[in-house]
Amino acid sequence: MKRLVSDIYNCNVIQLPRIHNVAGNITIVQNGGQHPFDVRRVYYLYDVPGGSERGGHAHKNLEQLIIAASGCFDVMIDDGNNKKVVELNRPYFALHVKPGIWREIFNFSSGAICLVLASEKYDPEDYIRDYSTFLRYKDECRKGQ
Ligand code: TYD
Repeated sequence: MKRLVSDIYNCNVIQLPRIHNVAGNITIVQNGGQHPFDVRRVYYLYDVPGGSERGGHAHKNLEQLIIAASGCFDVMIDDGNNKKVVELNRPYFALHVKPGIWREIFNFSSGAICLVLASEKYDPEDYIRDYSTFLRYKDECRKGQ
């Protein structure tokens, strides 16, 4: 399989559809809709202690949409050359994290819920959990271009 050489400039915040209602709003995510991949897994982080940090890792193939379903937090994305921090603070914004991007999530507000829509089922082999391994992986990807 050809490895994707993603960079942080391919990782955008997309706005999900909203239905307004005085009794509460609805946001919809539906396969075949406007989001960039079909969703095979959903997970969410909650009860995150203030000041803690989650998700210092990258994926080789997995794509993700990260959503602050409640509260807010920051996501740092890093392609090995450049980094940026994206604040997620509304449930209708989703950060699209492409494969081959190191990401960390931090600055959770109290009661925040981080909803992750993922393109693949859980596969521990798809993770890169060590930052220097990640940098080597990115070098190999670039050389394979
Ligand atoms: P992990 O992805 O390492 O979370 P973080 O990087 O944010 O700390 O997941 C934590 C644990 O949960 C790890 O033991 C694997 C397990 N896990 C699953 O079994 N299935 C899943 O879909 C996810 C996301 C995690």
